[in-house]
Amino acid sequence: MRNVTISKYKNSFKLECSDIASDKSISHRCAMFSLLSDRPSKIKNFLLGEDTLASLSIAQQLGAKVVKKEGEVEITPPSKLTEPSNILDCGNAGTGMRLYAGLLSGIDGSFILTGDKYLRSRPMSRVTTPLRAIGAKIDGREDGNLAPLAIRGGRLESFRYHSNIDSAQIKSALILAALQADKPSYYREELLSRDHTERMLRGMGAVVEMQEDGWIRVEPLVKPLKPLEITVPADPSSGFFFAVAAAIVPNSTTIIKNITLNPTRIEAYKILEKMGASITYTQKENIYEPIGDIEISYSGKLNAITVENNIAWLIDELPALSIAMAVANGKSIVRNAKELRVKESDRISTVIEALKSCGIETIEYEDGYEIIGGELQKAVVNSYGDHRIAMSFAIAGLLCGMRLEDTECIETSFPNFFDILSQITQLG
Ligand code: S3P
Repeated sequence: MRNVTISKYKNSFKLECSDIASDKSISHRCAMFSLLSDRPSKIKNFLLGEDTLASLSIAQQLGAKVVKKEGEVEITPPSKLTEPSNILDCGNAGTGMRLYAGLLSGIDGSFILTGDKYLRSRPMSRVTTPLRAIGAKIDGREDGNLAPLAIRGGRLESFRYHSNIDSAQIKSALILAALQADKPSYYREELLSRDHTERMLRGMGAVVEMQEDGWIRVEPLVKPLKPLEITVPADPSSGFFFAVAAAIVPNSTTIIKNITLNPTRIEAYKILEKMGASITYTQKENIYEPIGDIEISYSGKLNAITVENNIAWLIDELPALSIAMAVANGKSIVRNAKELRVKESDRISTVIEALKSCGIETIEYEDGYEIIGGELQKAVVNSYGDHRIAMSFAIAGLLCGMRLEDTECIETSFPNFFDILSQITQLG
C-alpha cells in the first residue's frame, strides 16, 4: 500500500496546467469507438491511466492493432472483431465494463468481462437488464448483476427504453447496442447525462439524434464509421482538484488549459463559482466538444451551498466539492445523489468518514449529506481504493496537512497528480 504525506501550504500559488490528465470518459470511448470504423483512428493525448489503458488493451484483444507514438495512439480496427482467447480485464473502470457490455452484446462470439475487486462489487444489472430485454445473452453473479460477466454476443432487437437513472454509462451501453440492432431504437433519461458518446458517434457519421420530444434516436449501422481524429482535452473532473485548491488557498490561482467545456461536465465549476470563487471560461475551439481554458482564483472565504439539482453533471466532482464545503461559511447540503453510493467506493460513507477524521461535522443521508463548514484538521485518511477520495483529501491537506493511505488508485485516472501537487506544496 502506498502512503503519501501532504504538507500544509506555505505560499499562495499560481498554477498554469497544460498537463492535467486527459479526459477519461473520452479516452475510453476513443478505444472502443475506433473499433466501429474500417480505417485507423488517430488519437492525440489519449489518457495513459490504468482505466483507459485497460480499455485499449481490450480493443487489442478484440483484434485491433495499437501503435503508441509520441503523444499519439493509432488504433487500426480488425476487419471483423475477433473472439478473444482470454478474459477481458476492465481494471477499476465501470465505464469500460458497462460500455463494452453494450458493444459486445451484438458481436458474434463469447466474451468474459471482469475487473478488480471494487469493480466486481459494483452493480451491472443497470446495463445487463435492459440489454437482456433486447436479446443479449449475459450472465454473471447475482443473476447478471455482478462481474465477471459472461456475454454470448448475437442478434439484438431495437428498443424504446426510458432509464430511471441519469447515467452516461447506461445510455452509452444502450446506444452501442442500438447501433447493432435490427431497426432504429430510442433512449431517454430525465437529465441529459454527459453526452460524449452522442457527440463522438455523430462526428464519426452515425445517426444518433436528440429529438424534440427528449428521446435519443439511434439508427443501426449500415456501414463502418469514419475513423476518429481527435485530441483528447483535459478532464474537468481531474482539473477540479486543482480548481478547489485555488478556491481554498488564499491569493491563489489555477489555470487549466485545453479542457472540455462541455456543459454536462463543468457544473461543479459553476457551483464553486456560486460559493464565491472567481472563475472565467475561455472557449478556443469546438471539435466534437467545446474546448478552452478555465481560470479559477481565490476570492475570499467560500459560502455554503445546497446542491440538489443536475447531480449527474457533477457526480464525479462531489468528493472534491466536499472539501470546499468543509471550509465554507455555513452548512452545505447535497441531496438526490444516491448514485454516489455505487461509484468506485460508497462515496457518501467515504467522504463522511474522511471529513469526520478531519474534525468536520457532517450528517449522512441515504442520498447525500450535510457538511457544516469549519476548520480542517490534520488526519490520516484511507482512500478505500477510490482515486477521487484520495485526490480530494490530498487537496484538503493543503490547508491542514494530511497522511493519505492507499494512493495507488490515483494511477487509474491521473498518473501525474502528485507531480502537479508537488509544485504547490511539499510531499513525503
Ligand atoms: C462516466 C459516467 C459517469 C461517471 C463516470 C464516467 C462515463 O457514470 O461517474 O466516472 O464515462 O460515461 P454514470 O454515467 O454511471 O453516472
